[in-house]
Amino acid sequence: MNMPGFSVVVPASTANLGPGFDSVGLALGLYMTVNVRSNSSWKVSYSNEEYNEIANDEQNLIAKTVIAVAEKYGKQPPTLLLSVESNIPLGKGFGSSATAIAAGIEIANQVLELRLSDREKVMEGSQIEGHADNVSAALLGGAVISYFDGESIDYIHIEKPSVGIVVLVPPEVLPTEDSRSLLPDKLCHKEATRSSASGCVLSAALAINDWKTIGRMMEKDRFHEPYRKHLFPSFEAIRQSCKELGAYGMTISGAGPSLFIAVPIGKEDEFADELAMRFPFYRSIATQPSETGTIVN
Ligand code: HSE
Repeated sequence: MNMPGFSVVVPASTANLGPGFDSVGLALGLYMTVNVRSNSSWKVSYSNEEYNEIANDEQNLIAKTVIAVAEKYGKQPPTLLLSVESNIPLGKGFGSSATAIAAGIEIANQVLELRLSDREKVMEGSQIEGHADNVSAALLGGAVISYFDGESIDYIHIEKPSVGIVVLVPPEVLPTEDSRSLLPDKLCHKEATRSSASGCVLSAALAINDWKTIGRMMEKDRFHEPYRKHLFPSFEAIRQSCKELGAYGMTISGAGPSLFIAVPIGKEDEFADELAMRFPFYRSIATQPSETGTIVN
């Protein structure tokens, strides 16, 4: 196959925002760029050392996604040379697998001229990932609230969430499966009802960009925080510091091991510096939501 090269840019994302478990995703201003060329076999290379361990052939998740989408649409899968640059911390709760899946869907869409709609891309990504939160935000940008049951999907896209963000990133990775294995099989009705109420208010507040309310609701989750928070050094001390400093709220980023802190817009650098001083175990990164999802250059 002979085709002109192109690039796909995909944002990182944070999932859940507390009680929006497996449903809410927010795209972050950290990006992966995949430069795509035709080639006689699959070859994937990463400029970032952190990604060295990742498969560099058709077992790579971006490549596997391209192949899966091609097969689903009855097309001959291409073989490609992918050169990847990324400043998204890997395995740290910023949806790096969803970012790879979103890239693979868009690459297949371009190379095979599938003309997929946003909805088809989100459905495809959710089926591959198993939940919709990170992948919908990685594809569409902004904030996305999804209902996905494996067969059908409904989502609401909030295009321009406006907030400052600090993420605290620990040195070690935490595989999502390990973090999910900590969750109980059952939740009592009262706990589930309260968590659901906080998730409902959180979604409504997201729709009107009311980050004071979002921050409060983020901290009321009972779906996963109680079972995961012991993994985070200084969890309660960080939450207390965030309150003292005037942050909107703090929660686990996705399945962890990083923490997500919402702060007044424009104050993210100041908060990041202060939290870096108070909690040097974590790398502190200031960012904002990404309004762009997966784009092609
Ligand atoms: N909603 C997911 C979780 C995000 O918290 O396990 C990680 O993929």
